[in-house]
Amino acid sequence: MTHQTERLYLYPVWIRIWHMTNAMLCLILIITGLSIQFSNPSTLVKFKAAVTVHNIAGIILTISYCMFFIGNLLTPNGAYYVIAVKGFLVRLKKQFIYYTIGIFKKTDAPFPVTVDNKFNPLQQVTYVALMYVIVPFVIISGWGLLYPEVTVNSVMGISGLDMTDLLHISAGFAISVIMCVHIYFCTIGKSPTSNFRSMINGFHESH
Ligand code: HEM
Repeated sequence: MTHQTERLYLYPVWIRIWHMTNAMLCLILIITGLSIQFSNPSTLVKFKAAVTVHNIAGIILTISYCMFFIGNLLTPNGAYYVIAVKGFLVRLKKQFIYYTIGIFKKTDAPFPVTVDNKFNPLQQVTYVALMYVIVPFVIISGWGLLYPEVTVNSVMGISGLDMTDLLHISAGFAISVIMCVHIYFCTIGKSPTSNFRSMINGFHESH
């Protein structure tokens, strides 16, 4: 049986620019964030530099996130992030079974990529949680640390700043883990590199 490559235009220019900016900023934020967390007193200048770069990258990430949010509100791309609740868990299970069993038996993907369904159920729930819960959370807690005077003083006897810090670090850690899994899943395309090409030229390749 011969397979003909199908090319679907799924990633408009603005999404590609946002994604590239976002990915680079997240890498910078993770590296500088880790160097702030595991800083060593003898490398004081590097610590200061890491804080400055982290703060600037965080401010640019806030702007780029707002562009993503507005872009999804104003363009058809936002529809991919609306989860059809009815039967969602069943679809999620199907995709999970495919990723854990089906894919190794070379069965067909249960939710092939189409113009109406860019994301499979697992991608959809991950991207929604990431872009509408975790990233806003890391941004808001980051601003809370940048302006400690606006952060609540104490929550049930625990310092508000410590709490914000803990939440910020946890959200940053979650993003780091999701990013690694995200990159791994991006290699499961028509070829290991085809999904990465999609984010450069806008076309998803499938067969
Ligand atoms: C070096 C790091 C990264 C690489 C190489 C990468 C790669 C990709 C690729 C190839 C796609 C398109 C294929 C697909 O949808 O599965 C994609 C989509 C996406 N990525 Fe990433 N990514 C990276 C970092 C991130 C980060 C840090 C986030 C969010 C915090 C993110 C969020 C997304 C979202 C939301 C989409 C879907 C965009 C849309 O079509 O609406 N990515 N990524």
